[in-house]
Amino acid sequence: MRPLQSVRGMHDVLPAQAAWWQTLDQHCSEVFAAYGYQRLRLPLIEHSALFQRAVGEATDIVEKEMYCFADRGGGDLALRPEGTAGCVRAGIEHGLLHNQTPRLWYCGPMFRYERPQKGRYRQFHQFGVEAFGLPGPDIDAEQIAMCARLWRRLGLSGLQLEINSLGSIEERAAYRGVLVDYLRRHADALDEDSRRRLEANPLRVLDSKNPALADVLADAPALNANLGPESRAHFAGLRTRLDSLGIGYRINPRLVRGLDYYSRTVFEWLTDQLGAQDAVCSGGRYDGLVEQLGANPTPAVGFALGVERLIALMQRQGTALLSTAPHAYLIHRGEPAAALAWRLAEDLRDALPSLRLQVHAGDGSFKSQFKRADRSGAQVALVLGEEEAERGQAQIKYLRTQSSAETLPQRELAVRLRQCLLINQAEKGHE
Ligand code: HAM
Repeated sequence: MRPLQSVRGMHDVLPAQAAWWQTLDQHCSEVFAAYGYQRLRLPLIEHSALFQRAVGEATDIVEKEMYCFADRGGGDLALRPEGTAGCVRAGIEHGLLHNQTPRLWYCGPMFRYERPQKGRYRQFHQFGVEAFGLPGPDIDAEQIAMCARLWRRLGLSGLQLEINSLGSIEERAAYRGVLVDYLRRHADALDEDSRRRLEANPLRVLDSKNPALADVLADAPALNANLGPESRAHFAGLRTRLDSLGIGYRINPRLVRGLDYYSRTVFEWLTDQLGAQDAVCSGGRYDGLVEQLGANPTPAVGFALGVERLIALMQRQGTALLSTAPHAYLIHRGEPAAALAWRLAEDLRDALPSLRLQVHAGDGSFKSQFKRADRSGAQVALVLGEEEAERGQAQIKYLRTQSSAETLPQRELAVRLRQCLLINQAEKGHE
């Protein structure tokens, strides 16, 4: 029998990797909350029709990358390839978008049947952010600033922001005609992939990485030269905001994105440190999607960041990991002390909700318990020997510094721990 293996393109995250994921999780949830975004949890499975309508029939994602299946009821279902469609579906279904301007975020696995390679997987993870009901470029700029803040928090440098405007839905449609005319005239110079896309999804031809097409594409009519006054003003507004926030960017007239729902602003954060899969975060405006899915017209803008790619970058650039080790390890000896230890631990957790406290379980000499305390990564050992238990005292032993041990009444322990440990990190801030 062949050994069991994970499915191609789908990976386990082992405990050694957990601290990276946890660090990213924590920074994302704190940064999103700092901008007033609220968390939403969405199903992994939706009706395939949702993605056909939202992402677009002629996109690679829907055409060849979706995991579609029928369940026992015969439904035509899909593992979600991205989160925006489900978020809009949920917003409409629960009336969140009606006369409201929700700012939402979600995270979790997405599934695309792509050719796996470094940075490209069949199950990958995203943090996604979406804001509804806000038409101005100020919110686009704020979302980009939110990413920039996250990069700073994570200690990441060298990320390049590219922006473009696809114009309104009508302008985009008109441009499509202009582009198709041009590409048809140069059909001989196109490769097979581009010829196929020419009819189905011509904007994506601009995305081609084939160097043989570089000349033809360089002369192709540019999308942002075809924008009307409103779209131009919107894009100028975005640039003014980014300038005033001190966020550098490059305008890339070829940035079109691989999903059909975008209009006006599109953006990507790129790195040159991860090889071919260089986009760590991408998004833009999708002012037509809510209406297209059956509700009142509602402008919207959002982005998603690729967790695996960001973690690869964090590892390369040495992001400081947030510790998950206990702050304190409680050591005890003798039955009266043991009973007291578990009670004392509960009292300490009541008094200090952010305290991470591990109580030694079972027997063991002081020596072996200290060894475990050391291995746990705790900063201090709290010692409850028979003598301390009898006197209502406890001892604090510092495991990582030269400070001498202190013996104090148990009721003063919480106050002392608050002073000497780095707890309530979130309240102290990271920047
Ligand atoms: P997307 O560009 O398809 O956009 O994906 C967003 C990010 O997910 C990419 O920049 C990349 O970092 C990561 N990613 C995509 N595919 C893979 C893969 N196969 N393996 C690893 N990472 C991957 C969206 O999904 C839109 N829903 C974003 C959005 C939200 N637009 C508006 N709101």
